[in-house]
Formats: sequence, C-alpha cells, structure tokens
Amino acid sequence: LSERRADPLVTGSGPTAAFEVRASRRTQVRIGPGALFDLVEALAGRRGQVVADTHALKLHGGLLPAELHERAIAVPRGEDVKTWAQLGALLERLAAAALDREAVLVAFGGGATSDAVGLAAALYHRGIPWIACPTTLLAQVDAAIGGKTAVDLAAAKNLVGAFHAPEWVLADPRPLATLTPTERTSGLGEVLKVALALDPDLFAALERGATDALEGPAEGLCALVEPCARAKGRLVEVDEHDTGAREALNLGHTLGHAIETAAGHGRVPHGVAVAAGIGFALELAAEHGGIAPGLHARVASVARRLGLPAGLGDLESALGERLDDEALLGALARDKKARDGRPRFVLPRALGRVEIGVAVAPRDVERVLARRSPAP
Ligand SMILES: NC(=O)c1ccc[n+]([C@@H]2O[C@H](COP(=O)([O-])OP(=O)(O)OC[C@H]3O[C@@H](n4cnc5c(N)ncnc54)[C@H](O)[C@@H]3O)[C@@H](O)[C@H]2O)c1
Ligand SMILES: [Zn+2]
Repeated sequence: LSERRADPLVTGSGPTAAFEVRASRRTQVRIGPGALFDLVEALAGRRGQVVADTHALKLHGGLLPAELHERAIAVPRGEDVKTWAQLGALLERLAAAALDREAVLVAFGGGATSDAVGLAAALYHRGIPWIACPTTLLAQVDAAIGGKTAVDLAAAKNLVGAFHAPEWVLADPRPLATLTPTERTSGLGEVLKVALALDPDLFAALERGATDALEGPAEGLCALVEPCARAKGRLVEVDEHDTGAREALNLGHTLGHAIETAAGHGRVPHGVAVAAGIGFALELAAEHGGIAPGLHARVASVARRLGLPAGLGDLESALGERLDDEALLGALARDKKARDGRPRFVLPRALGRVEIGVAVAPRDVERVLARRSPAP
C-alpha cells in the first residue's frame, strides 16, 4: 500500500504544474487540483464571460467564482455546440451582453466547447482573449492546448476554424471525477498516442498504472495530463500551424477518423477510434520500413488494460459488427492529409519515435485492412 501511495497516479498529490507555451501567442498552462482557483489571477481584473457546456456547468459550475457562475452562458453539450448556427447564436449573445473588446471568454467544458468558444473568441471584435477550463480528460491532454479552434460543417468536422490560442489553460482534475467510463477511456486513447509517439517515460507509467488510469481517483490523472500537455506544447512551439512536426500527434488518427466516419459520427468515441488506429499503424509500420521488436505486443497489452481496442478487430468485437471496408477505404481516400488518394500515416518505429507523413498506396492499405489480424 505504501508503494501505491507514493505513486502520483494514485494519490494525486503534488503541486500544480505551471508552464508556458510560446507560439505566436503565449499560453500559461496550470495543471492540478485547484487550478480553477487561478481563474481570478488569469482574468487580472478584466471582465470575464463564462461560456459553458450545459452538462459540465450543471455538474461543476460551483467550482467557478460565484459571480462568473451566475452570469455563465450555457451552450449545448458536446459536439452539438460545434455548428455554424450555434456559433452565430453565441456571438449574438456576447453582443447582447455588451461584451467589449477588453473582455475575456472563459470556455468551460470538453473539447467541443473549447473549439467553439475559442472560435467565437477569434471572431468577436476581430479577436478577444480566451481562457480554457477543460473539463474532460481529452480536452485537458489535447484539445485545449495548441490554439486550433473550429466548428463543423455538414461536409466535414472542423472545416471552419482559426488558430487562436487561449491565454490560459486551467486543467483542474476535480471535474474529471464525473466523466463516464467511456469518456475517460476515450481520453486515455490520446494519452496512449502521446506516450507511444513522444514519451517513453509516460508509456512506462501507463504500463505500471493502467488500472489507476482507468479507475483511480481523478486527481491521479494529473500525472498523465501534465506530460501530454507539455509534449503537445513543445510541438506547438516548433510547428504552430501544423505543417511539420506537429503531425506526430496524428498517430492513429488516419484510420481513427475513417472509423468514426464509417461507424457513423458519435458512435465510436474519438480516443477509442484513435486507439484502434494506433494498432493499425503498428501493423502498417511492420510492413513499411519496420518496427522495433516486441513493440506492437507491448502497445496492444497496455491498450487493452486501459479498456481500449488494440486494433480494428478488437473494436469490431466490442461493436458486435464488422465495419464496411469500402466505407473505411473511401473515408481514408478523402482524408484531409491524403495526397492523390494516397492516405498518409504516422508510423511508429520505436517507443518515442514515429515517422510522419508516410503515404501508403491504397492497395497496401486495403490488404492490411482486409486481414484484420488480431493484435498480438
Ligand atoms: N482543437 C484541437 O486541437 C482538438 C484536439 C482534439 C479534439 N478536439 C475536439 O474536441 C472534441 C472532443 O472533445 P471531448 O472528448 O472533450 O468531447 P466533448 O466536449 O463533446 O465532451 C464529451 C461529453 O462529456 C460531457 N462532459 C464534459 N465535461 C464533463 C464532466 N466533467 N463530467 C461529465 N461529463 C462531462 C459533455 O457534456 C459531452 O457530452 C471534438 O469536437 C474534437 O474535434 C479538438
Ligand atoms: Zn485526437
């Protein structure tokens, strides 16, 4: 027991992490229990306007300063806020509240909320500052960092957006206590991605602490959030506009996005689809240029212990249906990063090392896909 207690994944103790991401704008990141208390410091006397996911607001609005909580604007929960119509309605409400250009928006919710509120902040008065208070694991490890904001169009997700980094990211673990197991697992899919692509120490921590990551107290998740947020921050500093190194974060996403499309949006949680995509990328990598011995089995084992699929086969067993190969291949050919119909993959080579932008011929993709080999 004493050994377990010493592990921050279990105790969640330890100081709040504070660091800065320096890109075209500077973002102050605070991670730890009580990080939301820093909201007052972050506002620095300016007028703040909270825009919150209805559900997150109901559950955790009490963690906000009372005066901000009372005046909060509630927006539809989850992906429903990321429409052109909802964005317009939100901008009208900001104007009706007579917010001027000195005001600061505060996004309180998951990645969908931060994407939409960040875009509203980019547009209102041609750009006002915003603060992200991510309330899901996925938003804390990924969506809230890096300044990409967007809403969806009928043709595709995230088709309209802007780069507009938040001034602050306040990642407090307390809201994470109410995530559904599915939402928590989905966030862990992105953690697994960062660990495999960029951070062998984090990977080892996941191997040691998979059960706590899945079921332990929310405070313990800070030990996963911090390395992920730092890793993403480092990539954003060197490649803010996602034309190079930042692509490493796309590991598992080429097939992951295709799975989300083929299954019907909203059916497979994003991070779960990404985990299946990681399994596929490991398989492709073995055939295209090689992979460190034993790596695939190691990743598959930790994925399963995190409640994630180790590959497409695992995912389909859980869904109880085989996804349509034509639908998957069609979505891959239409992928944003595809060139001349050749989807591009991030291929893992070794723990902490990936090759980005590998274009794979459709027939090679098709062959590996059709096999559905069970992950080792
Ligand atoms: N901008 C980026 O770089 C980036 C990166 C990754 C993902 N994203 C975007 O993020 C979105 C996915 O983020 P997400 O997984 O956080 O989804 P989400 O914002 O849709 O939230 C998922 C669900 O969790 C609920 N929820 C939020 N906080 C909660 C809490 N504390 N307790 C219980 N339930 C809570 C929400 O109401 C929602 O139903 C997608 O739209 C994706 O495109 C953006
Ligand atoms: Zn993702």
